[in-house]
Amino acid sequence: MKTSRSVQTLLSVFLILLVTSCGSGVKKQLSSPDNSLKLTFTLTEGKATYELSKGDKVVISPSELGFILSNNDQFNDRFRVTDISEASLDETWEQPWGEDRYVRNNYNQMAVSLEEKDGLKRKMNIIFRLFDDGLGFRYEFPEQENLKEFEVMDELTGFNMPRDNMAWWIPAYRPERYEYLYRHTPLSAMDTVHTPLTIETKDGLYASIHEAALYDYGSMTICRSDSSNLKCDITPWSTGVKAYLKAPFKTPWRMVIVTDDAAKLVESRMILNLNDPSEIKDMSWIKPTKFMGIWWGMFTGDYTWAQGPKHGATTKNAIKYIDYCTQFGIPALLIEGWNYGWDGDWVGEGYKFEYTKPYPDFDIEKVCSYAASKGVNIIGHHETSGAVMNYENQIDSAFAYYQKLGVKYVKTGYVNSVLAGKELHHSQYGVRHYQKVAELAAQYHIMIDAHEPVKGTGIQRTWPNFMSREGARGQEYESITNGNPPEHEAILPFTRILSGGMDFTPGIFYIDNPNKKISSTLAKQLSYYVVIYSPIVMAADLPWHYLNQPAFKFIQDVPCDWDKTIGINAVIGDYVTIARKDRNSDNWYLGSLTDENARELTVTLSFLDEGRKYTAEIYADGDDADWQNNPLSISITTQEVTRETTLTIKLAPGGGYAARFVAL
Ligand code: NOJ
Repeated sequence: MKTSRSVQTLLSVFLILLVTSCGSGVKKQLSSPDNSLKLTFTLTEGKATYELSKGDKVVISPSELGFILSNNDQFNDRFRVTDISEASLDETWEQPWGEDRYVRNNYNQMAVSLEEKDGLKRKMNIIFRLFDDGLGFRYEFPEQENLKEFEVMDELTGFNMPRDNMAWWIPAYRPERYEYLYRHTPLSAMDTVHTPLTIETKDGLYASIHEAALYDYGSMTICRSDSSNLKCDITPWSTGVKAYLKAPFKTPWRMVIVTDDAAKLVESRMILNLNDPSEIKDMSWIKPTKFMGIWWGMFTGDYTWAQGPKHGATTKNAIKYIDYCTQFGIPALLIEGWNYGWDGDWVGEGYKFEYTKPYPDFDIEKVCSYAASKGVNIIGHHETSGAVMNYENQIDSAFAYYQKLGVKYVKTGYVNSVLAGKELHHSQYGVRHYQKVAELAAQYHIMIDAHEPVKGTGIQRTWPNFMSREGARGQEYESITNGNPPEHEAILPFTRILSGGMDFTPGIFYIDNPNKKISSTLAKQLSYYVVIYSPIVMAADLPWHYLNQPAFKFIQDVPCDWDKTIGINAVIGDYVTIARKDRNSDNWYLGSLTDENARELTVTLSFLDEGRKYTAEIYADGDDADWQNNPLSISITTQEVTRETTLTIKLAPGGGYAARFVAL
């Protein structure tokens, strides 16, 4: 898969690089390949810190590194540096699917080896990787005599900010997991929050703090140690322990993407570069897909998951939906509410779910073979309600069952505030469970779309069958009163979606549904297919709402696997425009959307290929469109364009814009 790779250089720089006036200090700098970012590692009186700057702007001021282990064992203040080595890499690798086909992985690395000066003389390494678009660093606990099995009670990693910058954040440790509206406040007013945490610095930079390669460790939330100083707060087990570890062990990478243009955050692939290449050697069975579902009807009140007169997952209904898939050219169908466990309090009684027992009115064999005869993939569904033990007890047979039926995609669900009655979704317990499911699914050649997931950390590079996740408020939160405000989708690409694809469930055309009022115009629904990335993407509405709708053609045409992604313009929370090139044709797509304010944006199509002409199929808000009063007004036009053309994008209040550029 590698297309090019520069020679990896390895220099061992034996200490001591700078001796401070007080004695045994070490200070060492690392630059990004283009020299724009600088990382400084410092060891002073046994304590390690780092700082990060871009040009003359400080992004992270000196911040702590280290741990507290059980029995208040400080593993952070008696270190000496035993070695510093440097390396660099410049390679380009190909994704099996994604937002960009080719990804450049270009960094300079500094590995610092530390050892306690006295006592147990325990060792720890810190590996810093500096890319042009940000910093990644992780801790390694090498195999050693005096650190075998241990408990992390606190990770001290800091992310201190020199000023009280503005941040977009959702609170952590709340019952609805990641499903909160983003708040935009100064750091000094911030709660303890989930990552990605995106910050606009007072000197005009954008920094997004997150983590990569989260395996077997609690996930990182961020708390304030004082007004603008931030510290990581690892999600604990119910025992209070943050991670049970055994050396040798490598923590997840802590990462900070840094750009000077908000729109460029969406082009960062650092999170993937900090993950290992695929563990799945034959990836030919892993494919992005669009899908419809026996699903939205459960939210509008047309269907139920449970048995009864409105049961959605009946054989008859499934066959009707498969016929719609065939008619519309949508290659997959999700079916929820097909198995025993939904009758009664399914959130409280997840232990009742049975994953190989269909309801009597759902002839699963007939449905699956009918789907196969029509070339439609069934997307299976495993809701667990967080009853993880019940799921794990059945998971082998559940995947084997679906595999036998030809089901290649499974949507999983964990509706509950805790897993197994007491553990948080983003704890080490949760991380282990989601990983177990992904790895087992791979054995059965099953692709996963997890709802109520642990957050994404780029592990889809290593486990490309773990394709998409929910992990934020999607359209199911829409309602008359407390739905998602129109600014929500102008925040997601710069926060949640930096962690990986999101199953947002776009494509609702019955916007004025009194049971489920949607906060967007029709054109905005189309824009989501470009702006809100997911390799498994839904046409979420009831299929008959797409009949005789010219706007549906965009959903039929738009791909969900991309050759290239370009962030065109953005003010986070106000508007965003993204362009993407189809991976399987020469066509380009553009999506633009706004918050509750109308606006006019000018975009020159310079991303289009040189020397080519295109027919632009444009789906824009009608002149009188408005998300509250006139959401369906849409203007569909075509015009010939080249990369020299400048488009004026008119966005209605709560509106959007979608364009397909068909290469001529
Ligand atoms: C919540 C999920 O987000 C939704 O998509 C699913 O339909 C329900 N849980 C039931 O599993």
